[in-house]
Amino acid sequence: MPYLLGLDISTTGAKALIIDEEGKVVASHTTPQPISTPKPLWSEQNPADWWDGMVESIRAALAAANATREDIACIGLTGQMHGLVLLDAEGGVLRPAMLWNDQRTQPQCDEITHRIGFDRLIQLTGNRALTGFTAPKILWVREHEPLVYAQAARVLLPKDYVRFRLTKDYAMDVADASGTLLLDVASRAWSREVVNGLDIPESWLPALVEGPEITGEVSAEAAALTGLKAGTPVVGGGGDQAAGAVGVGAVKPGIIGLVVGTSGVVFAPLADYRYDPEGRLHAFCHSVPGMWHFMGVMLSAAGSLQWYHDTLASGMSFDDLLAPAADLPPGSEGLIFLPYLTGERTPHPDPLARGAFIGLTTRHTRAHLTRAVLEGVAFGLRDSFELMKEAGLASGQMEVRVSGGGAKSPLWRQILADVIGAPLVSTSTTEGAAYGAALLAAVGAGVYPDVPAACAATIQTGEPTEPREPERYAGAYATYRSLYPTLRETFIRL
Ligand code: XUL
Repeated sequence: MPYLLGLDISTTGAKALIIDEEGKVVASHTTPQPISTPKPLWSEQNPADWWDGMVESIRAALAAANATREDIACIGLTGQMHGLVLLDAEGGVLRPAMLWNDQRTQPQCDEITHRIGFDRLIQLTGNRALTGFTAPKILWVREHEPLVYAQAARVLLPKDYVRFRLTKDYAMDVADASGTLLLDVASRAWSREVVNGLDIPESWLPALVEGPEITGEVSAEAAALTGLKAGTPVVGGGGDQAAGAVGVGAVKPGIIGLVVGTSGVVFAPLADYRYDPEGRLHAFCHSVPGMWHFMGVMLSAAGSLQWYHDTLASGMSFDDLLAPAADLPPGSEGLIFLPYLTGERTPHPDPLARGAFIGLTTRHTRAHLTRAVLEGVAFGLRDSFELMKEAGLASGQMEVRVSGGGAKSPLWRQILADVIGAPLVSTSTTEGAAYGAALLAAVGAGVYPDVPAACAATIQTGEPTEPREPERYAGAYATYRSLYPTLRETFIRL
């Protein structure tokens, strides 16, 4: 039976995952990746480390699977989005990659908004200018490192640098390209208007493909290093969020991906291009050809609970901490938690937003604080669903496919189902974006005719957590929503 290989270059590790054509995980290996913060707000990695880590992981996964070079039918790529890799004309790396969580580019974001116009930028690219995105990083290099800029000939995203080392091709899929702020997201092509408006040479941009489309083959050189067979096909793949959505089967409208990890992500597939005119939501191409998606990103989801536990209850297990909160009524008896502990992205793109407990009285116990944290995160995630409905997401029957560490708590799942007002289901797949990348490879190899068919054949869902009494949260949610606007000036002063 042929195997499929998914490669995920995340911020923390280079992962190689091998599955069989029925979707069973055969082997997986991750090589940790160092990250550097040379100055406040900066976040960088060395692309050479990605490649070295990936070579190690591919060799280890092949060995663990007891697979021969011939067994791998196709390779799919995924990874952290938005990072800037600048190459010279020979393909040499010019400076460390500036990552998705690098925050140095606010002046360049302002310049982009000024040059293109706020409304036009969102209409074309589906997004407002955010510091993490790729285009402002290119402008930063032009302004601050003109000698580097003068040598630049190519722009790639992290996983596409791995592709370049694997196949020698310059290519990028449209889902990941959506996070550059240079894509005309509706037409799935580079936006001449934005690219020329920012004076970025068009020749720097790689060829665009769809997620399951083959972009090239493993080179003889890469084959010798990795143990793969020269000529093995490689597909476009996708950014980690789109590939992760494929990995849980969020590949048609009505099936929403919800990740409750350190950050929280709401991922809604769309049959046509839509955008939020205020740019509070991301609108990107999906890794499924002909589909798009909305995305809301909460910066501290399970991260809020982790902070609360570590700071106020570090000696307790999470189970012991959460258990008493189950006995309290929805709304935590008048206590509200704001989860903006590391600023926020959706629905308030505001690095200065801050966390808060509002409404404390002497009657409140630790259980109230705990429940308020779980509810506050659920309210923040519901904000993304509300924005999506406003922007035209069909509000019919929804199924929410939940993943991430926070989804393991039955209490939190129930609160999320109640607050969002939709059933929550887990999937049989837990390998995240690498799994989605391997499924895209399965389509590229012709094992399945399209991405939804690959998902249907390989992903099973568990018992749903049905929403109960959602109306009991209506008052607390309305209060929650009123708090950010009320406190905004205070956050700035703080
Ligand atoms: C998506 C995003 C993150 C990064 C890192 O917009 O910023 O998901 O891709 O994982």
